[in-house]
Amino acid sequence: RRGIRRISTGVKALDELLGGGIETKAITELVGEFGSGKTQLCHQLSIIVQLPEDRGGLKAKALYVDTENTFRPERIMQIAKYRGLDPQEALRNILYARAYNSDHQMMIIEESKKIIEKENIGLIVIDSLVAHFRSEYPGRENLAERQQKLNHHIAQLLRIADIYNVAVVVTNQVVAQPDVFFGNPLKPAGGNVIAHGATYRVWLRKGKENVRIAKIFDSPYHPEREVTFRITEEGVVD
Ligand code: GTP
Ligand code: MG
Repeated sequence: RRGIRRISTGVKALDELLGGGIETKAITELVGEFGSGKTQLCHQLSIIVQLPEDRGGLKAKALYVDTENTFRPERIMQIAKYRGLDPQEALRNILYARAYNSDHQMMIIEESKKIIEKENIGLIVIDSLVAHFRSEYPGRENLAERQQKLNHHIAQLLRIADIYNVAVVVTNQVVAQPDVFFGNPLKPAGGNVIAHGATYRVWLRKGKENVRIAKIFDSPYHPEREVTFRITEEGVVD
């Protein structure tokens, strides 16, 4: 597509799988169980977006929407240092917003247009996209309302990504599929709304110790191949 730019994940194998990194004008969903590396990748992308183009970035800032209070400034500074950036400056280039509930989360995204128009934003992170929606609209009786709100939220994210040529990265949880006896007993939360709304879907799972495994799913354009990476003191690495 025209005008799209790419942000390196900082992991060569993962970049290759994604066709060069995560794309602007698109929503990339990171889905996986707890500890699979979703938040660590969000941290790392918020740093790499700041690097110049020849090092995989966009020389731009990140907007980080944190719904679960898992943003770690010390971790940002640690990874930034490894990537050759001034840690304090790297942290300042991440515009942080804590979303306290789903309405607040949607409002932050609505308001983000004003910030993007003023600041050079290359990446929007929402970690996690679905957590508030799932806890505020539990059960079957709330499903329709929840999915309708999520749908609106995702459509707005996609519009912003497209208009401002920014990348959007969201995290998603996995939920049990109790009726599945063969195959994967886990599936991404958010149902069809996220399945259709996310441009690219990356499934992360845990390997031994600090090893993590990633694959792209639901995409006719990407290989089903799996790649591995590690989470270390330096961040997310090959
Ligand atoms: P949930 O949000 O709980 O669903 O998990 P997540 O997918 O966001 O996992 P996250 O990205 O938080 O990954 C957690 C893993 O990263 C931990 O199990 C640690 O192994 C590793 N990790 C996190 N912080 C550090 C750190 O500062 N140093 C090192 N070496 N590893 C870290
Ligand atoms: Mg997390």
